[in-house]
Amino acid sequence: MKKINDLVSEYLQEIKGFDTRVIIRSRAVAKRMESKTPEHARHAWHGKRVGAVAARVAGCLQEDVCTAFLAGLNHDAGKLFVPAYLLRDDTDFDDKKYQLIQLHAVAGFHLFKDICLDLALIIGRVHNTDDNGYGVSLSDYLSDASQSQINAINFNSRLVSICDYIDSNRTRPPRLGKDVFSDGSYVSLEKQLFKKYPQNQRIVVAALSVYSELF
Ligand SMILES: [Fe+2]
Ligand SMILES: [Fe+2]
Repeated sequence: MKKINDLVSEYLQEIKGFDTRVIIRSRAVAKRMESKTPEHARHAWHGKRVGAVAARVAGCLQEDVCTAFLAGLNHDAGKLFVPAYLLRDDTDFDDKKYQLIQLHAVAGFHLFKDICLDLALIIGRVHNTDDNGYGVSLSDYLSDASQSQINAINFNSRLVSICDYIDSNRTRPPRLGKDVFSDGSYVSLEKQLFKKYPQNQRIVVAALSVYSELF
């Protein structure tokens, strides 16, 4: 098993052609997240695991590894603006607290939008891949985008969303994966993912296999 930090350095070394401000800001976010993360929080809030899996899957599928990695690494960057007690797995949730947590999607978008709009949109859409969740809408920011640009953003936000779902499910309490026991019976992670992402079974299969290979 590779150490997360080794994987992160490996991918950071591969990154070329990105505005260096993106790399500098990503490092700053990771550092701030590291100090904010409560010791017992098992989901990597700073997104290292999600970034590593996303990059490896993107590589398998012949897509842009660097964008996938940076999007995974920063997908929860907006949680820097969420009060720390809300990020703890033992917090009791109500609708108001959940709404506050949901703001992290838009906050993450704003953290990167001035230096890399596409990356910011991917981050802002991880929880809104089909425009039925929460976060940003592409139509609000891309009025004259090409279809290939839209496809790349959608591919990466789905990829990160799938990797995030897998990591959350594997590392955090069942409360966070409410539909695990929705009808009282066990639903495998693969089946949950196929249901949630019916158009992206290729990514689901690749992400599950990379995740178990790495962790
Ligand atoms: Fe998130
Ligand atoms: Fe996450």
